[in-house]
Amino acid sequence: MSGQQPRAAVAAVSGLGVRGPALTEAPASPLLRLDHPLLLPPVLRLLHTALDGTVESFVNIWQNVSERLDPRRPEPFAARNLAGKVAIVTGGNAGIGFATAQQLARRGAHVVIACRDPERAQAAVRRIAATTTPLFPSSPALPAAAAEDAAAAGGGAGSVRVEAMPLDLGRLASVREFAEAWRRRGLPLHLLVCNAGLMGPPQRLETADGLEMQFQVNFLSHWLLANQLVAAERQRRAASARGGKAVAGAAAKGAGWQRAVAAVAAVPGGSGGSPAEELGDGLRVVMVTWLTHRAGALQWADKQSRASYEPFLSYGLSKLANVMTAAELQRRRTGAVPRAGRASRRGPGRGSANPCPHGGAADAAVSVHPGLVATHLANGFFTARGTGWAAGGPLQPAVEAAVSGFGALAGPLLMRTPEQSAGVMLHACLAPRREVAGRYLALGRVASPDPAAEHPGLAAELWAYAQQLTDYRSPLQ
Ligand SMILES: NC(=O)c1ccc[n+]([C@@H]2O[C@H](COP(=O)([O-])OP(=O)(O)OC[C@H]3O[C@@H](n4cnc5c(N)ncnc54)[C@H](OP(=O)(O)O)[C@@H]3O)[C@@H](O)[C@H]2O)c1
Repeated sequence: MSGQQPRAAVAAVSGLGVRGPALTEAPASPLLRLDHPLLLPPVLRLLHTALDGTVESFVNIWQNVSERLDPRRPEPFAARNLAGKVAIVTGGNAGIGFATAQQLARRGAHVVIACRDPERAQAAVRRIAATTTPLFPSSPALPAAAAEDAAAAGGGAGSVRVEAMPLDLGRLASVREFAEAWRRRGLPLHLLVCNAGLMGPPQRLETADGLEMQFQVNFLSHWLLANQLVAAERQRRAASARGGKAVAGAAAKGAGWQRAVAAVAAVPGGSGGSPAEELGDGLRVVMVTWLTHRAGALQWADKQSRASYEPFLSYGLSKLANVMTAAELQRRRTGAVPRAGRASRRGPGRGSANPCPHGGAADAAVSVHPGLVATHLANGFFTARGTGWAAGGPLQPAVEAAVSGFGALAGPLLMRTPEQSAGVMLHACLAPRREVAGRYLALGRVASPDPAAEHPGLAAELWAYAQQLTDYRSPLQ
C-alpha cells in the first residue's frame, strides 16, 4: 500500500454532514434513520460507559475481597488439555497477553507470542518457561534441540511450549511479514488472541503508515492479521484435505530471534500435525476490547482523529472496531451474525450455509472485555488522566503524589490482576463455541455491546474502509 492511500481515503461522507472515509465499495450507511445507533445522544453513551465502569469496579471489589477470603477457588478450565493446539497471542510479552499466554501454555498449548520488541519477547518466553507449571504431564519428549532451547531459556525441557515471533502492529508491512512467515511454517492455528494495544497517548500519534496509532495498532493491524491468518489456515486445511503436506516451510524452522523458543512446536504428536488438529475444533479469533467501546461511536465520523483528537474517544473507536470485527468475522465465516437480544442468544448462525468448504463451520470469533486490569496500559492512562491537568504547574508534585498514593491504595481493590483477567480471557478462548461465537463478553459472560457494534451497515462500512486502507481484499466476503 502506498503511504498516500490512508490520507486519500479521508473525504466527506454522507448523512450527518461529517467527515470520514470515502467509501466506494461499502453500501451507504442509513444515517438518516431515526433509530440509527450513531444518533444515540453522546451524553447517553458517556453515561453508559461510566455506569459500566462503576459496576465493574464494584464487581472487582467483590471479587478481590472474596478471593482473599477464599483463596482456594477452582482454577478455570483446569481440565482443559490443549495439547496439540496452537495459539498466537499478540502482545504476549506483558500484561493481559502475558497472563493469557501463560495460562494457555499451562494447559499444554503451543503458544506463540507475537511481539514488537525482541528483547522483551525473549524475556517473556523465558519467564513463562521458568514459572509455568503444566497442568498435564507433557506428552512426547521434546527433540534434543528443543530441550536445549528450553533449558537455555530457563524452562524445564518438555514443560511448556512457548516461543516468540516478531510483529509490530504499527507497520502493516510487519503484519504481512508475520502472516507470510506463519503460512510458510505450515502449522495449524486454533486460537488467535488479538490482544496487543495501547491506550490514550496524550497527543495524537501516527504510525509508519500514516494512520492514527490506536486505530491501527488496536484495530486495523489486527483486522489484517486475522484475515490473513484465517486465509492461511484455510489454505493449510485445503492442502491437508488434499493429502499433501500443507505448505512449504517445515514447522520447526525459524530464523533469527524467531528461534527464541522455550520448547518448540515440532514435537511428534504435538502441534506439527497431531490428531488433535483433526478434532474439528476450528480456529477461534479473540478480539480484546473494552467497555469504553461504547464511547467509540462518537469518533466514528473522524476515524483518523484528524479533525480533533480526544485520547479516550479515539481509543474507544478502536475498541468499537474490535467488537465489530469479531461479529463480522463470525458472520462472514458462517453466514450469520448473532445479534444481541433473545433471538441471538440461541447459537451462532446455526443452519446457515458456510460458503467455503474449508471455512470451518467450527471456526468462531469473539470479542472480550478482560476487565479493568492493573497493567502498564491502564495504570499509565489513569495516571496521565489524573495528573495531566496539573502538568507544568506548581501543584504537579502534590497531584502526582496524591494520584500515585490513591492508586497504590485503591488499585488492588478496584482493579483485577493480569492473572485474574486471564480467567476471563480463557472463557473467551475456551468456552463452547455455541455459547460465545460472534458475541461480546464482559465481566465473564455474554453481554450486549453498544448498538453501533451490531449495526450491519456500520460493520460493512468499517470492513470496506479496512480493505481500502490495507489494500487487502479479504477472502471473507
Ligand atoms: N488493562 C485494562 O484494564 C484493559 C481493559 C480492557 C481492555 N484492555 C485491552 O487489553 C489489551 C492488553 O492491554 P494490557 O492492559 O495488558 O496492556 P500492557 O500491559 O501495556 O500490554 C500491551 C501489549 O501490547 C503490546 N503492543 C503495544 N503496541 C504494539 C505494537 N505496535 N506492536 C505490537 N505489540 C504492541 C505491548 O508491547 P510492548 O511491551 O512492546 O509495549 C504489550 O505487549 C489491550 O488491547 C487493551 O486495550 C485492557
